[in-house]
Amino acid sequence: PRLIVIDTDPGIDDAIGILLALASPAFSIAGMTTVAGNIGIETTTRNGGRLLAFAGREDIPVVQGGAAPLSRPGPEPLNLHGENGIGGVALPEPVRPPESLPAAAWLAEFLLDQPAGAVDIFALGPLTNIARLFIDNPDAARRIGRIIAMGGVVHEVGNVGPRSEFNLWADPEAAAVVVSSGLPLVLVPLDVTRRVRASREFAQALRVAGKPLASMVADLVESYFETKTHQESRPLHDPCVMLFALAPELFRLEDLHLVVNTGSTEEAGALTVDGNGTPVQVAIGVDGPAVLDLLARTLTAA
Ligand code: BDR
Ligand code: CA
Repeated sequence: PRLIVIDTDPGIDDAIGILLALASPAFSIAGMTTVAGNIGIETTTRNGGRLLAFAGREDIPVVQGGAAPLSRPGPEPLNLHGENGIGGVALPEPVRPPESLPAAAWLAEFLLDQPAGAVDIFALGPLTNIARLFIDNPDAARRIGRIIAMGGVVHEVGNVGPRSEFNLWADPEAAAVVVSSGLPLVLVPLDVTRRVRASREFAQALRVAGKPLASMVADLVESYFETKTHQESRPLHDPCVMLFALAPELFRLEDLHLVVNTGSTEEAGALTVDGNGTPVQVAIGVDGPAVLDLLARTLTAA
């Protein structure tokens, strides 16, 4: 299995991505680093621990990271994902406390301890921790095999601004550091994640197998519809990172030269395709039904 670290702000769709990674024999999860985003840092860290406790995987360390963006005051938590950040879904409390090191320092130590290129980072939240790692310890950061990050929007409208997606918007300076770092990066933007959509029927089908991880994902998907009652389906943004790693052939990649906007709130985090930008691999197309099917098969096999 591929050694990965999940950097995350759980988050309903983060939680689904984490459960998918736990279910897949293709990944060996070395750690989970947390960041403020969907909700404040104490809650994202606790949610990470709760998901691991639920899965019986408290052998995986949880490492708390950035409470606020690199260099601007944190946005007020939007609490988009309910009071507890994961749609009010009940999970056991973790027994294992978070590691004592902050995420960027833990990542540096871990990467220096592993062969160069052996560890991938799955980034599901604002890019604060990875930027901090690159700024503080570029040699360690250069040992990352590949970063696969959910973030940004290229051809469509954003979800927080006209051209801004939440993860890049929430810490645009961090996003700019990571994109311009030249570290191997695959970006999975809204253009793709909006095409991977779960319905109530999808959740019901997940329950049939009677498997705990699949049933928990069904609970998480259904929690979306408690507030968005009029919607037929919801995008599964963050799980697309895991799904891309599992089946890149189901995505269409483009090499784009990108610049991240770090200006006003309105435009922060917006991506510009610009010849002077940094080359990044961007997942720009996806076979939505096929990756949903892969998600369901992986969860129900576990
Ligand atoms: C991203 O923002 C968060 O709300 C989700 O967890 C996802 O990472 C989508 O824009
Ligand atoms: Ca997220």
